[in-house]
Amino acid sequence: LTQTWEAMQEQKSSGLTKHIGVSNFNQGKLKEILGMEGEKPEMNQVEMHPFLPQKNLVNFCAENGILLTAYSPLGSPDSRADRHKNDPKLLENAVVAEIARKHNASVGQVLIAWSISRDIAVIPKSVNKDRIIENLKAAELDLDQQDLDHFANIEVNHRFVDGSFFTGPQSPYKLTDLWDS
Ligand SMILES: NC(=O)c1ccc[n+]([C@@H]2O[C@H](COP(=O)([O-])OP(=O)(O)OC[C@H]3O[C@@H](n4cnc5c(N)ncnc54)[C@H](OP(=O)(O)O)[C@@H]3O)[C@@H](O)[C@H]2O)c1
Repeated sequence: LTQTWEAMQEQKSSGLTKHIGVSNFNQGKLKEILGMEGEKPEMNQVEMHPFLPQKNLVNFCAENGILLTAYSPLGSPDSRADRHKNDPKLLENAVVAEIARKHNASVGQVLIAWSISRDIAVIPKSVNKDRIIENLKAAELDLDQQDLDHFANIEVNHRFVDGSFFTGPQSPYKLTDLWDS
């Protein structure tokens, strides 16, 4: 980690990139970097949506001036392997559907608006022009405290990207290294 982070800082100091950050870093790994000489990561990109609000990581990053990006904000419905077929469906959740109805918006839009309301960058993926336009319009939605309370009480905890993708035979990581419990 030390060598990689030093190499990334060199890319920035030599002008090859303007910003450096990390992805899928738990608090332990962030603390490791924060304990090193030099720059701290500007951004940490992690899975985040109402089934995985990552409250402790959000607080830790805010306290340490690290921005967050929410990936899989719609629950990655197109990258689910067969073994995930029984996963809970974020886009079909009744609480989310009710909030969408109230705002006359789509389920996708209120899921995106949920991250925006937390001042967290959010990266929904779509190859569909109409959905890309729809998703961008989520920035115009104003969720109120009641909506946020409903999201907070959704009572489903689920991580869609379980980490097996990152822990193949060539990887230095094991699943137990990846996430905060
Ligand atoms: N750093 C990491 O380790 C990591 C891991 C996973 C993902 N990511 C990144 O996170 C981003 C998003 O992740 P993702 O694609 O896995 O998940 P996602 O954004 O949660 O879901 C994308 C899926 O939702 C559909 N969709 C998009 N907008 C919709 C809407 N308004 N209503 C209904 N369905 C909608 C898309 O279909 P259509 O395309 O057909 O519209 C696509 O099937 C990507 O840029 C990805 O690279 C990063």
